[in-house]
Amino acid sequence: MTKTALVIYSKTGHTLEVAKRIQLKKEFDLLMIEATSDDPNQPFVELIEIPDIIDYDHVILGSPVHGFRISKIMNAYLTQLPDLKGKTFDLFVTQFFPFAWMGANQSIKQMQKIIKQKNGTVRQVGRVSWRSRKKEIQILNIVKTMQD
Ligand SMILES: Cc1cc2nc3c(=O)[nH]c(=O)nc-3n(C[C@H](O)[C@H](O)[C@H](O)COP(=O)(O)O)c2cc1C
Repeated sequence: MTKTALVIYSKTGHTLEVAKRIQLKKEFDLLMIEATSDDPNQPFVELIEIPDIIDYDHVILGSPVHGFRISKIMNAYLTQLPDLKGKTFDLFVTQFFPFAWMGANQSIKQMQKIIKQKNGTVRQVGRVSWRSRKKEIQILNIVKTMQD
């Protein structure tokens, strides 16, 4: 049986809300990344909660978009991960603006690049725009596709 974790960073709760919607359908372990400071302008990130994914085959990663990139805290988390050979990933980001090109697409690419560099396999990707009329459809799509 595939063991799946939901690993997210959420500053203001949107990404957490999506993770909880996924959890309503499937009770994956929800692991939160935390740093000493949530200030997106901090020059250096010091992680204090670093979810260990060694025992998981599949990981769903969620991050907010900060300045057309994934949050620095998610970036710091991904960067410190060891080799990911044999693991599969689904990725989602939440953003404010209604169009994917306003940060979500760039952020997904950034996550995909790091995971591929570490020999992990990316399966599904999803984007949620908090201001878009399509928000609910976008969340439902993530809930439907991001399963084990
Ligand atoms: C510093 C900062 C930068 C942001 N940059 C963007 C951006 O480039 N594009 C966008 O659509 N939303 C941007 N946002 C909005 C967040 O991505 C959005 O509110 C997200 O859903 C927050 O997720 P969270 O509640 O899980 O922290 C930014 C928010 C902050 C605080």
